[in-house]
This record gives sequence, structure tokens and C-alpha cells, in this order.
Amino acid sequence: MKHERAKSRSIDYDEVSKVYDSVRAGDPEIVHHILQGISLDPHSLVLDVGCGTANNTRLLASTIKAKVVGLDISFGMLEKARRKVEEIPLTQGPASALPFIDGSFHFVFMTEVLHHLPDINQALSEIYRVLAPGGSFCIVTQSHEQIDGRMTSRFFPASARVDKERYPDISAIMDSLTRIGFSMVSFKEHQFHPTRLGKDYLDTVTNRGYSMLHKIRKEEYDRGLNALKAAFAKGEDLLYSAGYTFVRAYRN
Ligand SMILES: C[S@@+](CC[C@H](N)C(=O)[O-])C[C@H]1O[C@@H](n2cnc3c(N)ncnc32)[C@H](O)[C@@H]1O
Repeated sequence: MKHERAKSRSIDYDEVSKVYDSVRAGDPEIVHHILQGISLDPHSLVLDVGCGTANNTRLLASTIKAKVVGLDISFGMLEKARRKVEEIPLTQGPASALPFIDGSFHFVFMTEVLHHLPDINQALSEIYRVLAPGGSFCIVTQSHEQIDGRMTSRFFPASARVDKERYPDISAIMDSLTRIGFSMVSFKEHQFHPTRLGKDYLDTVTNRGYSMLHKIRKEEYDRGLNALKAAFAKGEDLLYSAGYTFVRAYRN
């Protein structure tokens, strides 16, 4: 098994945790789609793998009656999460070696985590192991077309190239799930409500608040930032609608 720490693939998640909540909030639309077709009761156990600062964990837990547990590799992320969600059990560990016994969970989900994992197959196998028979799994990620459609890809085309290397394409994810033994593997793409990007977006980009902006060359970053500032200065209406893909699978 590969050795994993909170600093993997050259991203230091403990460091990222310090600014994470200013860049990304929980998203009720994401949570709504994660829960589509899922039936849980107060005895059900749910696991959020790579819960981060628990933004989506908390939203999801407030929507359902089941018991929700969060896991993340980063103590920094978990420390921020702990301050927000006293009632949700949080555990530190890597997705590739889940500290739970076989068949513990009725539902497992993972939001924007897959592209961070050094060994995706090992993590998916672990999720299969901890799912109870009849349990289901939902991965929230972006397809390569959705990465191309990001506003950040328009201004920083190199960031799209970087992320298409980090994010496995949807067909590859589905193949892995099927090989591991999951059944009824399927996916749905959703386009989210458009938002008008303003000063917050410019601030985030200026602070390189998106991880892929740390992975492009300085000239490419400077060129993109200047173009973005010029677009704001011209009063261009930067209306953006994010797209996400929800991959679903079941354990028989
Ligand atoms: C982009 S954040 C997503 C956080 C959260 N799911 C959300 O929706 O806000 C990615 C998270 O994955 C965690 N992570 C990265 N590698 C991991 C691993 N090998 N095992 C568990 N968590 C990991 C990071 O610490 C970080 O909190």
C-alpha cells in the first residue's frame, strides 16, 4: 500500500485548510443531487470520504435522519470541521486504508476528492469493503468537458490541462468501479444555477485559492490574471454555471 500523508501530490492539505472555507462553501445543490434515489433511516450509517472542513457533511447531515461520519487525511481540515460540527464523528485516515470494519456503512459519498488520491483503485476497493450489502456510493467529480467549461479554464487554459491529468475521466472511474465488483454503475451530469462572478472570484484567483493555479507556470498565471482584471475593468458580465458529474454504484 502506498504511504499517504496529508501532503500528497504536492498539495499540503493542512496548509489549504487555513483558507479552504473562504474559497469553497457547502453547496445545497450538490447535496440535493448526492441524495437522489437514496433511502436512509435513523439506523443508517453514512460516510463522507475526504470530508474536508465538513461543509457538505454538515449540510447533508441536516437533510437526513441517518448518522453521518466524516473522514479526512488532513488534521488541519478536521480541526476546522470539528469547530463547526460537534455532533458529527470525525476520523483521520487515508481513503486507501479506511479505519472501519467490513460492511459498516449504508451510504458512502465523496465530493471533489477523487483527483487528490494517489491510488484511486485502492480507495474504491476500501469503500466497497466498508459498504454493507445493498449499500450505495456516490462520487461527485467533474468530467473533462466540465473542466474545459470552467471560467478558470477560459482565463488560465494551462489549468485545464493540469486538471485533466489529475481528474480521471468518467469512463475510467466507471470501469474501475465495475472491476472492483460494484454493480449498476451509472453517472449523471448536472449543470448548476448560474452565478455572477465578482470581486470574491477575483480575490480567490489573486490569492491562487484554486489548487490548480499553483500548478501552472508564472507567465501563464500572470497572463490569465491580467486578462481577468481587464474583463472586470470592461464591465464584462462573467456569468458562470458550474457542471458536476455524479457517479453512482451499488454493492450487492
Ligand atoms: C477539494 S477538498 C474537498 C473537501 C470536501 N469533500 C468538500 O466537498 O468540501 C479535498 C479533500 O480531500 C482530502 N484528501 C486528500 N487526499 C486524501 C486521502 N488520500 N484520503 C482522505 N482524504 C484525502 C483533503 O484533505 C481535502 O480535505
